[in-house]
Amino acid sequence: MKEKLQKIREEALERIQNSDNLDKLNEIKVSILGKKGALTEVLKGMKDVAAEDRPKVGQLVNDTRAAIEEKLEEVKKTLADKMREEKMKAEVIDVTLPAKKNNVGHRHPNTIALEELERIFIGMGYEVVEGPEVEYDYYNFEALNIPANHPAKDEQDTFYINDKIVLRTQTSPVQVRVMEKGKLPIRMIAPGRVFRSDEVDATHSPSFHQVEGLVIDKNITFSDLKGTLAQFAKELFGEDTKVKFRPHHFPFTEPSAEMDVTCFKCKGKGCRMCKGSGWIEILGCGMVHPRVLRMSGIDPEEYTGFAFGIGLERIALLKYEIDDMRLLYENDVRFLKQF
Ligand code: DAH
Repeated sequence: MKEKLQKIREEALERIQNSDNLDKLNEIKVSILGKKGALTEVLKGMKDVAAEDRPKVGQLVNDTRAAIEEKLEEVKKTLADKMREEKMKAEVIDVTLPAKKNNVGHRHPNTIALEELERIFIGMGYEVVEGPEVEYDYYNFEALNIPANHPAKDEQDTFYINDKIVLRTQTSPVQVRVMEKGKLPIRMIAPGRVFRSDEVDATHSPSFHQVEGLVIDKNITFSDLKGTLAQFAKELFGEDTKVKFRPHHFPFTEPSAEMDVTCFKCKGKGCRMCKGSGWIEILGCGMVHPRVLRMSGIDPEEYTGFAFGIGLERIALLKYEIDDMRLLYENDVRFLKQF
């Protein structure tokens, strides 16, 4: 009996010492101390031990059990410590590593340019209004003094929905819609999408954006137009920006002009951006044609006004020195995230 216990003890201690994880340790515990465990079996055999030897043998069994339990605890603790240490090692955080970059959204260059234009004109007391993209031929052409046989009405340029309805080719019809309401004076800008049946290339797109401007009041003169647009150019491109007005023709304004600004890159010396001229064209403008005023119910003897039309993409392309308009529509995230 004594030897048997000794053997159980030695074997158990060795197995415990050699076990390398907690599951195995538990298995060993069950196989020795469990209901059918080796030591339990020995205890069952106590009834066969002579009565006088029982206390001694009992003592021996208890010692063996205590030794095994002690060893179990010891190894269990060592293993638990080791596991914790390994876990800590695996989870170690290197605070010197560069942080992961969060993907935040970016405003589209068109949006940035539009917000800038709106900020400038709102600062001058203008209201921002909108008109429909699907527009009556009347508003898009007729009421703007563009008669039925005008070349701009050619099917090459205009998307027709039917005889009377088009996709607006310009934001100018919003002028008419606002004037017709009859609330004077008017000081408004109308940003929006316009459509023309153009082929896509670096400078053309069948859909782009304009910002229309209109001021109607008593005693509005060409000086007001020049002063307003010169101030706008300074705010958009910098204090030292100069402007130049070239005579032009638009059916709905008389006189009409195109406005150039001194190239903000070379300051007028001439560079690639301004194609060597030192000037960059940025908008069309003019005094509202008396016929346009009259058709919208405004008396041209009493009221005068000026109007202008800005290509939004043009401003965005210039401001960010982007040389292909298509980039603005493809919406490649690698492009957009630069702004
Ligand atoms: N609607 C013109 C265009 O699409 C731009 C324009 C020019 C608008 C002169 C105006 C203006 O209001 O006065 O080409």
